[in-house]
Amino acid sequence: MQRSLPLGRPDFDVDPGQQQEAIERYDDGRGLIGGDPNRRPAHVRWRPIPEQQPYFRLIDISAEKRARLAGFLAGEAAGSVGDVAAHRPLEIEIGFGMGEFLAGRAQAQAERRFLGFEVKRDLCRLAIRSLLQAGLDNVWISDDDARWALPQLGLDGRVAVIHVLYPDPWWKRRHQVKRLFSLPFLDLVHQLLIPGGLLHVRSDVEGYAQLIQQVVAEHGGFSANDPALAAPFDADPPTRREAYCREIDRPYWVLGFRKEARAEIRGC
Ligand SMILES: C[S@@+](CC[C@H](N)C(=O)[O-])C[C@H]1O[C@@H](n2cnc3c(N)ncnc32)[C@H](O)[C@@H]1O
Repeated sequence: MQRSLPLGRPDFDVDPGQQQEAIERYDDGRGLIGGDPNRRPAHVRWRPIPEQQPYFRLIDISAEKRARLAGFLAGEAAGSVGDVAAHRPLEIEIGFGMGEFLAGRAQAQAERRFLGFEVKRDLCRLAIRSLLQAGLDNVWISDDDARWALPQLGLDGRVAVIHVLYPDPWWKRRHQVKRLFSLPFLDLVHQLLIPGGLLHVRSDVEGYAQLIQQVVAEHGGFSANDPALAAPFDADPPTRREAYCREIDRPYWVLGFRKEARAEIRGC
């Protein structure tokens, strides 16, 4: 029996002013969770996570760990030679929470590589513990805001699937700039995915699920929502949020978008 999770408000507001600000100030780091990491260097050394663990925070990474991470992202496996990345597809989960889906999927898909982002460091500690207990060596995680870290990892056109499961709806008007789904975020997702790569999203907030479909349509670089694309992931362990929704019969929306070539580049 899961502990009750907050259900949020019945209404989901969209403030066009906040959406516009999120677009205009995306490159300044407006909307990043915890703010711009460059401006809080002292905070990053709080209770470090052991060097050997498959965890990183980019602002505080050693040269040795950076090299190991680069090897993992390049698709290197122990004893492998040549370009094996194509055979070891890379999946990313943004906001993995307690990590049930990430760990479960990584266990079931041992030939794939996984990169998970969760800004709450204590949740990263929990996730690392279960990854190590399960003996998984195909997952790395980070407590960086994914929007800040991903453009620095050299992964353009190399990611097979991006999962965003139950993203925070950020109900309050002044917090709406933190919402993950905006046009610049979709530019990033589009850049990262391989041709035909998949964006898999779930939400139990109907208004947010609708907003996501609108922003994806406005972006123009993805197919229309096809939930069937995301159906195979029903076989993976649900996230904590989804398990709770299933338990209390709360509806949730499953969205799948395929990367397509863009007809024109927005705003350029
Ligand atoms: C509503 S919770 C859902 C957690 C989990 N996916 C689930 O379904 O139970 C959203 C999670 O995303 C994390 N998060 C939000 N924005 C993020 C970002 N930009 N980068 C990494 N993690 C993020 C939050 O810390 C939070 O734990």
